[in-house]
Amino acid sequence: MTRTHFVGGNWKMNTNHTSAAKLAGDLVGELHDQAEGVEIAVFPPFPYLITVGQKLLGSGLDHIKLGAQDVSQHPDGAFTGEVSAAMLLDCGVKVVLVGHSERRHVIGETDAVVNAKLKAALAAGLDVILCVGETLEQREAGQTDRVNKTQITAGLKGVSAAQMPRVTIAYEPVWAIGTGKTATPEDAQNAHKAIRDLLAELYSGHIAEATRIQYGGSMKPGNAAELVAQPDIDGGLIGGASLKPEDFARIVQAAAASPGTA
Ligand code: PGA
Repeated sequence: MTRTHFVGGNWKMNTNHTSAAKLAGDLVGELHDQAEGVEIAVFPPFPYLITVGQKLLGSGLDHIKLGAQDVSQHPDGAFTGEVSAAMLLDCGVKVVLVGHSERRHVIGETDAVVNAKLKAALAAGLDVILCVGETLEQREAGQTDRVNKTQITAGLKGVSAAQMPRVTIAYEPVWAIGTGKTATPEDAQNAHKAIRDLLAELYSGHIAEATRIQYGGSMKPGNAAELVAQPDIDGGLIGGASLKPEDFARIVQAAAASPGTA
């Protein structure tokens, strides 16, 4: 079983219309020749999805997908400020993040909300990256695997085995996001292995082996290669470094150079 490495660029609440278009164009230029064998997605802010999508389409690089950073759990109606899965599809989006730590810990999303969003996205036909990870306090209390288990079990509640090929997990220790601190490759590998074992328990060995598990949290060109070389790390979800086209491309390159898991 081979898992194709998957690298996502989460732009968060950065860029403006002009710089988002430029970043997309620069990324396409950087990735043109070097992205064979790696799946890539970029997650711009909502207002720039169409512009960025047009740049990607115009590039002819169909392994770079347009992603969105969030999705409403509701299909339509009186939900001021929300954006539905159908609207995202309409804008050319293929994949959404759910449960990013900033939404869990800054905005206050619960596991139940994350689960509802994930199911709404899958039902509409979007792929999903389910983000999980422990805070520093939880890590110091030895609760990393327990937190991941809780977030994944709750996040995937009601998701069928048949839907799992459209789900990627991103393990992002909260203390590593945007801090410059990265989990050691060994610590990250241990967490990823525990997540894969959990997927085997929840679904099957086959699904566990087929599901991509990205690492996120201060991944950059200097540490990407040793992270993606770990047997259970199948790419990365990149924040800060995804705003620098050369750095993002170097991370993609590291993922391409690592053999994937056979
Ligand atoms: P970072 O963000 O790479 O800036 O740490 C990762 C993420 O939030 O997905």
